[in-house]
Amino acid sequence: MTDPNIQIRLAGPQDKEIVTRVMQEAGLETEAALAEGTTYWIATRGGQPVGAIGLEHGDGASLLRGAAVLPSARGSGLGRRLVMSAVQYAQGRGDRAIYMFSKGGDWSNFGFQQVPLAVVMGELPDAPQIRAYRARSERPGGTTWMRPLDRAASKA
Ligand SMILES: CC(C)(COP(=O)(O)OP(=O)(O)OC[C@H]1O[C@@H](n2cnc3c(N)ncnc32)[C@H](O)[C@@H]1OP(=O)(O)O)[C@@H](O)C(=O)NCCC(=O)NCCS
Repeated sequence: MTDPNIQIRLAGPQDKEIVTRVMQEAGLETEAALAEGTTYWIATRGGQPVGAIGLEHGDGASLLRGAAVLPSARGSGLGRRLVMSAVQYAQGRGDRAIYMFSKGGDWSNFGFQQVPLAVVMGELPDAPQIRAYRARSERPGGTTWMRPLDRAASKA
């Protein structure tokens, strides 16, 4: 069911504090959120921010970043709606695939399949999240995922 009180909108530079807070409250890192070359969305319920998601764009692929729903709003389909906003946007810009890192959870629920870390490092070397890891000489922990996109579907 779609909750009419829930709205998803594009985030602008003025929304950085909101996006950062929602990501933090969902337990995510916020480094380089809303950096140049990214697109973020905010979900509100009754006007209050309850979710966020972002895409870091590369050449023909994007990195899904900061999929976050506040604990009080989880389990009613908002996460899926946020992911679909990002998927449709990536399809519209002609991406081959979306990648993401997760520390847990089965993202095959969201149409992703596991791929080796080296694949995303090669496909999106300049994504802000990947640059941040490189700058700290760290590797993302957890699992790396890819959702292939149907580019033909985007060019209506
Ligand atoms: C992941 C998250 C955004 C899901 O939000 P949500 O609003 O509860 O999601 P939905 O209600 O749309 O559930 C969608 C599906 O995701 C599954 N799911 C729930 N939490 C999940 C998680 N942490 N990882 C993967 N899948 C998850 C649900 O079982 C559901 O599957 P179903 O539709 O087949 O029943 C939310 O749990 C969250 O903010 N987690 C903390 C931050 C995080 O780990 N983000 C991902 C890494 S960037």
